[in-house]
Amino acid sequence: MIEIASLPPERWKESRDLRLASLRLEPAAFGSSYEEEVSFDETEWKRRTSNALFALEDGKPVGTITCIFGNHLKTRHVAHIHGVFVDPSRRGRGIGRKMLETVLDQLKNKGDIVKVQLTVNSKRLAAVNLSEPGICHSGTAEERVESRRRISGRIAHGENALI
Ligand SMILES: CC(C)(COP(=O)(O)OP(=O)(O)OC[C@H]1O[C@@H](n2cnc3c(N)ncnc32)[C@H](O)[C@@H]1OP(=O)(O)O)[C@@H](O)C(=O)NCCC(=O)NCCS
Repeated sequence: MIEIASLPPERWKESRDLRLASLRLEPAAFGSSYEEEVSFDETEWKRRTSNALFALEDGKPVGTITCIFGNHLKTRHVAHIHGVFVDPSRRGRGIGRKMLETVLDQLKNKGDIVKVQLTVNSKRLAAVNLSEPGICHSGTAEERVESRRRISGRIAHGENALI
C-alpha cells in the first residue's frame, strides 16, 4: 500500500539515498546533479528531508516530491515544486499523481499561496503528462487561475527546461 507522508529528519539517510538515486538514474530530469549533492552533510539532508514528502510503500520511500516557497515579500505567494521522482520499478501506478495531488491539496489550505510553479523537460512525456492536468496550461509560461484551488499554475515547456 502506498501512503504519502513526510519523514522525520532522523530518516535522512533514506531520503538522501532516494534523491541521489534520482540524480544518478535521471540526470536529464533535474537541474541539480549527483556530483553536486553527494557531498552534502547530514544537516543539509535533514533540512531537505523536512521539506519533502514521500511515497511510502510498506513504510519504505519509493517516491519523493518537494515544495518550497518564495521567501521575499514579492514571491512568498509562489510555491515551487521540485525533485519529483518515483522509483522506476513503481512507475505507471499513479504514485506520481498521488504525490502531486497531495501537495496541491496542502497548498489549497495555505491561504497565502496563489501560484504554483513546476518546470519540466518537455521531452519527458511522463513528466509533462503528470504535471499538466494538475496545475498547468501547456505552452510557454502561460498561466491560468483555478479558483477552486485558489492556485494559479505556470509551467515552462522547453527542451532545456528542467524541473
Ligand atoms: C514523472 C514521474 C514522477 C511519474 O511518476 P509515476 O508514478 O510513473 O506517474 P503516474 O503513474 O502517477 O502517472 C502520471 C501521469 O503520467 C502519465 N505517464 C506515466 N508514465 C508515462 C510514460 N512513460 N509515458 C507517458 N505518460 C506517462 C500517466 O498516464 C499519468 O497521467 P494520467 O494521470 O493523466 O493518466 C516518473 O516517471 C519519474 O520519476 N520520472 C523521472 C523523474 C522526472 O522526470 N521527474 C519530473 C517529474 S515533473
